[in-house]
Amino acid sequence: MKTINIAIDGPSGAGKSSISKAVAKDLGFIHVDTGAMYRAIGLYAIRNGCLEEEQITKQISEIEIELKFIGGVQRVFLCGEDVSDYIRSPEVSMAASRVSAVPAVRKHLLDLQKKIASENNIIMDGRDIGTVVLPHADLKIFLTASAEERASRRYLELREKPGCPEYEEILEDIKKRDYQDMHRDIAPLCQAEDAVLVDSSAMGFHEVVEHITALIKEKLD
Ligand code: DC
Repeated sequence: MKTINIAIDGPSGAGKSSISKAVAKDLGFIHVDTGAMYRAIGLYAIRNGCLEEEQITKQISEIEIELKFIGGVQRVFLCGEDVSDYIRSPEVSMAASRVSAVPAVRKHLLDLQKKIASENNIIMDGRDIGTVVLPHADLKIFLTASAEERASRRYLELREKPGCPEYEEILEDIKKRDYQDMHRDIAPLCQAEDAVLVDSSAMGFHEVVEHITALIKEKLD
């Protein structure tokens, strides 16, 4: 059976995951958040003190990553443990960005990502989905927003929580991760030639969801 594959790439904090999740729900597709897989490996590297390329490369065959879709919602398992609730901290974000530059880590996840896409109608979000993982996707979208807008959205999300970082700190963090993700040697973040650019800097959440849903429906009609 030919499955429908939609690729959504873009920088950190552009809203890829929440938007992909809403669009997938509307269309009855599965949303695959590939960042969560890199985050789970980042968590493993923190827990086991193997953030250096050489160390993580040696251990990669021990790192078992599995995705399960429970009620349509993705949960990520690291060596059998559901770690979905432990992978969203700034520390894990940085570790994920770091380990994602390691070729053995990317190779480890590539086959799993391709397999999921070959078995399901999916919206897969990440950094290299349109360029490397699904070069023949039915539709590719590059979703972005200015670094300032992304930092301000993240700040509004976090400001009620204890220990919320200052806006400037969040902005610095976003710029640092953008740099790391765009300048690594392997599968760097970049817009695929045939991707549709969606700049959400001046758009609300629902507007972006409607716009992307319309792009997909138009493509599939
Ligand atoms: O989308 P995210 O912020 O949850 O991703 C966490 C990190 O994982 C991000 O800094 C870059 C990396 N990543 C990647 O290299 N390739 C992907 N397809 C998805 C994420």
